[in-house]
Amino acid sequence: AASLRDLADRRHVLIGTAVDTTALAEDSAYRATTAREFSSVTAENVMKWEVVEPERGRYDFSAADELVRFARAHGQQVRGHTLLWHNQLPAWLTEGVADGSIDAKELRKILREHITAEVTHFKGRIYQWDVVNEVFEEDGSLRDSIWLQQLGPSYIADAFRWAHKADPKAKLFMNDYNVEGVNAKSTAYYELAKKLRAQGVPVQGMGVQAHLDIQYGFPTDLAANLARFDRLGLQTAITEADVRMFTPSDPAKLARQASDYRGLLAACLATKGCASFTVWGFTDKYSWVPGTFEGEGEANILDADFRHKPAYAALREELAKR
Ligand code: G3I
Repeated sequence: AASLRDLADRRHVLIGTAVDTTALAEDSAYRATTAREFSSVTAENVMKWEVVEPERGRYDFSAADELVRFARAHGQQVRGHTLLWHNQLPAWLTEGVADGSIDAKELRKILREHITAEVTHFKGRIYQWDVVNEVFEEDGSLRDSIWLQQLGPSYIADAFRWAHKADPKAKLFMNDYNVEGVNAKSTAYYELAKKLRAQGVPVQGMGVQAHLDIQYGFPTDLAANLARFDRLGLQTAITEADVRMFTPSDPAKLARQASDYRGLLAACLATKGCASFTVWGFTDKYSWVPGTFEGEGEANILDADFRHKPAYAALREELAKR
C-alpha cells in the first residue's frame, strides 16, 4: 500500500513527524516507520537551546546532526524547532538572568549569537524554522518571559532579522498552540505578522501546533484562520498535530480522534500556502502526552505496537482524495 509520503507527494505537501532521536537510535521499527511514512522531520527536542548550547558559547549539534543525516539519507526535509522559546533553556542562561550576572544588553547579545550560530550551522538544510515559539498568552498579550522582561517586544523582530541573515532561504515561522481557530491569540499573531511585514521584517510563516483533545470541539474555523494568514502572504503549516484522549481508548474515541486528524489535514490541504503537515510523533509508544496530562494519552496515529489506528487510515484517505 502507498505510504503517507507517497500520497502526500502527489498533493505537493510535505507530511512530517517530530522525531525522538533516542528512539530513532534504539528502535528499528521506529526508524523504519519514520523513513517510510514521512517526507519531513522535526527534532522533538534536540534543536532546542538547552541541548545545542549547554554552556555559553559551547555548541553541541551532534544529536541534531544525526537527525539531519538520517533525513538526507531518506530524502526527507527538515523543519527547524526552535530558536527562541521560554522552555528548555539552559541553566547558565536562566540563572544568569535571575542573579543579574546577565543584564539586558548581554542577553540580547547572547540571543543574537545563539540564533546566528544555530541557523548558520544548519544553513541550507532547514526549509522552515520556528524562530519564535509560543510568545503570546491566550488573551493575545505578549507572554511574560525573560525575553519580554529584559528586551521588550522588539526581541521578536530582532530574532527574525538575525535568523534571516544567517540563512536567507529558510522560511521563518512563528509557532504556537491554541491558535487553530480565530481567537484572541491567533489574531495577535495575525496582527503581529501584518505589522512586521509592513516594517520589512522577514516573517514568512505561521505554524499552528494543533495539540487537540477529543473532549473539546474541533476548531471548525481552522481553514478560515489559515486562509487569513495566506492572504497576508505567509506560508502556513500544521506543525505538531496530535489528538489526545482519556485512556483507555474505545472505538468511539478512536473514531473521534480520526475525524479530528482528518479535519486538521483537510484544512491544510484546502489552504494554498499550507506547505507542511507534521504530527508530533506517530506512535503511542513515545509521546509527551501521558507525562503532561494526567490520565490522557493514545494521541498518535499508530498504536504502541505500530499498528495503524483509524486516524492513520483517515490521513491516508484524505491525502488520496483527488
Ligand atoms: O533529556 C532529559 C534526560 O536526560 C532526563 O533523564 C529525563 C528525565 O526527566 O528528562 C529528559 O528531558 C526531557 C525531554 O523532553 C527529552 O526527553 C524533559 O524532562 C521533558 O520535559 C521534555 O519534554 C518535551 C517538552 O516539549 C518540554 O517542554 C517533550 O519531549 C516535547 O514533546 C515537548 O514539545 C513541545 C514543543 O517543543 C512545543 N510545543 C509543545 C510541545 C509539547 O509540549
